[in-house]
Amino acid sequence: MPSIQIGTLAELPDGTGRAFTVEGRRLAVFRVGDELYAIDDTCSHAEASLSAGEFDPDELCVECPLHGSSFDVRTGVPRTLPAFEPVAAYRIFHDGELIFVEYPE
Ligand code: FES
Repeated sequence: MPSIQIGTLAELPDGTGRAFTVEGRRLAVFRVGDELYAIDDTCSHAEASLSAGEFDPDELCVECPLHGSSFDVRTGVPRTLPAFEPVAAYRIFHDGELIFVEYPE
């Protein structure tokens, strides 16, 4: 699977999340220290941007801003209703300052 550079650590302060666009698809990317997590940005329940939700770096989950489902940022699996389908999760890493995601061709 190819690795695509999506941004830099400077664009993603520790303990926060934001959206990056990869090959026309929006990913929600989160950072806790040196660890990075990437899931699809669009909620599996309706049209909402998960990167706009509240990120809890201790619980490693993000709350959907529309109806409040909490998604595990490691797996994309919702922990609370109303969403019950997972969103895709991607392998993500950094090499120095550069952030890469493994993205299917
Ligand atoms: S749109 Fe995300 S929980 Fe409804």
